[in-house]
Amino acid sequence: MTQKMTKSPGTKMQVVRMDQFGEASVLQNHHVPIPEPAAGQVLIRVAAAGVNFSDILRRRNTYFMPTALPFVPGAEAVGDIVALGPALHAADEVPEQRPGPALQPGMRVLAILPGGGGYAEYALAPAAYCIPLPDAIGSAQATALFVQGCTAQLLLHQVAAQALGALEGRALLLTAAAGGVGSLLVQLARQAGARVIAAVGSSAKLEAVASLGAHHSVCYAESDWTEQVLAANNGQPVDLVLDPVGGRIYRECFQCLKPGGTAVVYGSASGEPGYVDSEHFVNQGQSLLSFNLAHWIQHRPAEWQAALGEVIGKVAQGMLQVPVTNTFALSQAAEAQRQVEARSTIGKVVLLP
Ligand SMILES: NC(=O)c1ccc[n+]([C@@H]2O[C@H](COP(=O)([O-])OP(=O)(O)OC[C@H]3O[C@@H](n4cnc5c(N)ncnc54)[C@H](OP(=O)(O)O)[C@@H]3O)[C@@H](O)[C@H]2O)c1
Repeated sequence: MTQKMTKSPGTKMQVVRMDQFGEASVLQNHHVPIPEPAAGQVLIRVAAAGVNFSDILRRRNTYFMPTALPFVPGAEAVGDIVALGPALHAADEVPEQRPGPALQPGMRVLAILPGGGGYAEYALAPAAYCIPLPDAIGSAQATALFVQGCTAQLLLHQVAAQALGALEGRALLLTAAAGGVGSLLVQLARQAGARVIAAVGSSAKLEAVASLGAHHSVCYAESDWTEQVLAANNGQPVDLVLDPVGGRIYRECFQCLKPGGTAVVYGSASGEPGYVDSEHFVNQGQSLLSFNLAHWIQHRPAEWQAALGEVIGKVAQGMLQVPVTNTFALSQAAEAQRQVEARSTIGKVVLLP
């Protein structure tokens, strides 16, 4: 352990842990000993931990991967390194197998946490998944770089761009556009020259997506929302839809999609899968694509890492804003997730231990 620690080794830290699946109340505060990093790990003092929708899916045990209990949620955390695992002391002998400067205590990093652990005062992170951060990016903002930032960047510049050939001048419909991924997608799509039609679940979010650069914003709580989308695109259906909501919204998106167009599904935040029969796709000549970040990390690591680098560069240069309008103390993690489930948050939701 180093002098950077504010608590002595062996003392306890606060974590938010779930010992069972269920409602937000299963997230309980506990005090546990600060862990020691093993070989290949670093210990960081968490300054900010990101809340993602996938944390909620894990809590409900509806995530596509199994979640072993007990579980400390949090797939990404930002903070200073306070201790290196044994192998990292001998940097010459055991390379970290990651690009960039060697990790050292005091360095502020974005830690990607495949096994969770971010909802805590201190977190163990694989050294290979720690990315030193430029000073220009605040810790709260940095929690959006990994899951939401990479998802938005890859969805737009890989999946959508390949489906459309070029993004410039093409009309895109983005649902859940004020959310964590959505708020980044709106900006990236606008910067790529697309015509951005941002759809949200309540009128309170309309202004937020307009301020991020959407050309038009519509609210799908209104019964004529699909007509509003067509009107926003000069009476024409859009070229491509990006939907993480599923259920009714996913289905109704097809009323706005042109023959030969593409729908990209990347979630079902409504809790309902979206159903459109195969005959529809054949009759309309439309295509359905999907996106899963974990798949890209595992099978297309070069593209994923390039996307992360792009997002870090854009945020550092001020080209991409990360709206952080909802921050919570660590002990309020359950309330943070409740507010995401209540659809009352905009942009990135962050825990500040
Ligand atoms: N495939 C992947 O690899 C990947 C990666 C990251 C995220 N995602 C998905 O992308 C979506 C957004 O994730 P995020 O972390 O950025 O979360 P988020 O957007 O901050 O929150 C989810 C949003 O979904 C919308 N929503 C619609 N119906 C909902 C319901 N019944 N309950 C809760 N929310 C509802 C809400 O926006 P409105 O109120 O405006 O509808 C809400 O703001 C999620 O579906 C998530 O699973 C997928």
